[in-house]
Formats: sequence, structure tokens, C-alpha cells
Amino acid sequence: MKVLRTSVRDVIPLRAQMLRPGKPLLASHFQGDSDEQSFHLGAFVENKLVSVASFYFDKHPDIDEPYQYRLRGMATLPEFQHQGFSKELLKMAFPIIKQNQCKLLWCNARESAIGFYEKVGFIKLSEVFDIPEIGPHILMSKEIN
Ligand SMILES: CC(C)(COP(=O)(O)OP(=O)(O)OC[C@H]1O[C@@H](n2cnc3c(N)ncnc32)[C@H](O)[C@@H]1OP(=O)(O)O)[C@@H](O)C(=O)NCCC(=O)NCCS
Repeated sequence: MKVLRTSVRDVIPLRAQMLRPGKPLLASHFQGDSDEQSFHLGAFVENKLVSVASFYFDKHPDIDEPYQYRLRGMATLPEFQHQGFSKELLKMAFPIIKQNQCKLLWCNARESAIGFYEKVGFIKLSEVFDIPEIGPHILMSKEIN
């Protein structure tokens, strides 16, 4: 398995399959995808992209820390889940985020993925709220030391 920085163009098909099924591909383009401080990571098994995550320099209005990154588009193909791929992507992301002078990573976590985020050190910051057409989420964050 290799974890590499990859282009947004490469991550979008997996994002679409796992996070926006049945929606037009445009729904898997996220705001800030091409910003200079954004970066996209992919885990590859024998040159096949099996897990992706994207990171944006973006402050959540309810979190005080001045410099923050946001995690979006975290997804692993079903047959590769629970094998540590997402964890590896995050492990590679933390030093990059730190290098960019940020100490906090946040995400709107799908309710079904809360257990995953807790396992990798995120804490819950909100009650459950609904994102229309996607479902129940909570705000979670992790300090990057
Ligand atoms: C959530 C998701 C990204 C996790 O990816 P993954 O590659 O399977 O995660 P990992 O294997 O790195 O998991 C790390 C740990 O969390 C656990 N874990 C993974 N998914 C979990 C879940 N949904 N609930 C509880 N624990 C979970 C793993 O078993 C592993 O535990 P371990 O360290 O004790 O072995 C993946 O299940 C997925 O793509 N789900 C569908 C899309 C989605 O919901 N994405 C999140 C949007 S907010």
C-alpha cells in the first residue's frame, strides 16, 4: 500500500461512488478543491486507488482556534474498509497540516462514521444535525500536536 498526494481529478470518482451515489459528478466537486492550500491524499493498492481524503484551509465559525483545516471526502472502497487505509491517510495529513501552521482538523462526520473518527482521535463538538439529501452528521475535531 502506498499513500500519495494526488490530484482532485483522481479523487472525485471514488468520492462520487462512495459519498454521492446516484448524483451527477458535479455534486462531488467541493468548494475549495483547487485552492492552493487544499490537498488530496489517496491510498493505492497495486496502483488501484482504494481510499481518498481531502483537506481544506477552512475555519469553522463555531471553533475558536484561529487556523484550522477541514477534512472532507473521506472514503474507502467497501472491499478495502477496516484495513487501516483511512487511518494511514490521516497519518500522512497531520504533518502537512502542521507544516501549514494549523493545529486543528475538523469535519462534519456522518453519523455512521462517528465510531471511525473517534478511533482516530476526533471528539464530538455538536449535537446531531441534518445535511439535506445526505443525512445526519455531527461536528467533530482533532487537535494536531
Ligand atoms: C468511514 C470510512 C472512511 C473509514 O475508512 P476505513 O479505511 O475503513 O477506516 P480504517 O480501516 O482506517 O479504520 C480505522 C479504525 O476505525 C475503525 N472503523 C472504521 N470504520 C468504522 C465505523 N464506521 N465505525 C466504527 N469504527 C470504524 C476500523 O475498524 C479501525 O479500527 P482499529 O484501528 O481498531 O483497527 C469508510 O468506512 C467509508 O468509506 N465509509 C463510507 C463513506 C463515509 O461514510 N465516509 C465518511 C464521511 S464523513
